[in-house]
Amino acid sequence: MGSTWLVSIVELSHLLGLTILVGSVVVVSLRMFGVVMTRMPLSEVAGELWNWALFGLILQLTSGVLLFMSEAVRWYHSGPFLVKMTCLFLALLFHFTIYRRVTGRK
Ligand code: HEM
Repeated sequence: MGSTWLVSIVELSHLLGLTILVGSVVVVSLRMFGVVMTRMPLSEVAGELWNWALFGLILQLTSGVLLFMSEAVRWYHSGPFLVKMTCLFLALLFHFTIYRRVTGRK
C-alpha cells in the first residue's frame, strides 16, 4: 500500500517534470520562430525560462532514476528504454551545444 503511493508520487513527478520542461522549451522555440513574445529578445526569453527548464530536467532525471530503480532488471533489458536514453543523451548534447548558441542564453 505504502509503496504503491510512493510509486504513484514518483510517476506524477516524472510527468510534472515533463510538462515543465517541454512547456518552457516550446515557449522558447515559438519565440525563436517569431510566433510569441516578439518584443522581447530571444536571449532574454531563453534566460527567463532557463530556471524552469532546469527545474523540469532535474525533476525528470531524479524521478526517472527512481522509476528505473523500482524495476531495474526490466528496464535494463528493455529496447525502447535504451532508445529513450539514447534520444535523451542526444537531446541534452544538442541543447547544451547548438540550441544554447542559437538562443544566445547566458
Ligand atoms: C527529459 C527526460 C525524460 C522524459 C521526457 C521522460 C518521459 C517519460 C514518460 C512520458 C514516461 C511514461 C509515463 C509514466 O509511466 O509515468 C516515462 C516513464 C519512465 N521513465 Fe522517463 N523520461 C525522462 C527521463 C528519464 C530518465 C533519465 C530515466 C531513468 C534514468 C527515466 C526512466 C523512466 C522509467 C523507468 C519509466 C517507466 C515507468 C513505469 O512505467 O513504471 N526517464 N518517462
